[in-house]
Amino acid sequence: VAEVSDRRAQAPVLILGAGRQGRNINDVCAALGRTVHGFLDDTRAIGEIVNGVEVIGGFARAQDEDLIAALAMIVGVGDSAARASIFETLCRRGACLTTIIHPTCVISPSAEIGRGVFVNAYTRIMANARVADNVLIEGLCTIGADTRIEQSASLGPGCHLTAGVALGARCFLGAGALVVGRGRVGCDSVIGAGATVLDPIADRAFGVGTPARVKRLLP
Ligand SMILES: CC(C)(COP(=O)(O)OP(=O)(O)OC[C@H]1O[C@@H](n2cnc3c(N)ncnc32)[C@H](O)[C@@H]1OP(=O)(O)O)[C@@H](O)C(=O)NCCC(=O)NCCS
Repeated sequence: VAEVSDRRAQAPVLILGAGRQGRNINDVCAALGRTVHGFLDDTRAIGEIVNGVEVIGGFARAQDEDLIAALAMIVGVGDSAARASIFETLCRRGACLTTIIHPTCVISPSAEIGRGVFVNAYTRIMANARVADNVLIEGLCTIGADTRIEQSASLGPGCHLTAGVALGARCFLGAGALVVGRGRVGCDSVIGAGATVLDPIADRAFGVGTPARVKRLLP
């Protein structure tokens, strides 16, 4: 993990987003014994307490140099495109993006996990899988050996990827989706909950069902 040499890697965590994913990240920080400094959220009042953690400002505050110097940050926004955009801004500003993995996860020592990644409870990541920066993986997923998950992709709970599968940047897999064998998911695509992807799905496609079929292309 690239952040290992950064003195901020174990610093208190600033979570961008106090919605569902931000609150899930807060729970996992507690399970890890990581201190959460605060939430940033544009839709809540400064000073609001969310699950015991204060909202200290809107997203723009992440550009505050004092916060960048002192804290580890993670983007807790479910929407992949929005999460990607916030992550890129933080990287340009020199923020330390921390990876938060629930202690019940089983991660192969040969797997590569990027910065700013969130993995929730009971997920297994197998040998030589590569998970790029800013990926969000919900609980109870299986990420097979040699899989590749590109930057800012999001996986809902209970997704399973068999060995060697590839997911494109910013794609979204709904809960319980399976990607099997020669199945692939293109960049910015959305796969519905419970779908079974057996064949490659193009970029910017909306695919559902078993076997997954593209219903339409996304704008
Ligand atoms: C894929 C998804 C995002 C689509 O939502 P949407 O854009 O609002 O789509 P709609 O509900 O308008 O459905 C569009 C069409 O796709 C179908 N469809 C949507 N989701 C489907 C699914 N999971 N499986 C099968 N068909 C589905 C609808 O029946 C509808 O079909 P029609 O055009 O023939 O009537 C949503 O259905 C879904 O699966 N979300 C997953 C949520 C999730 O797992 N979150 C994880 C975080 S906890």
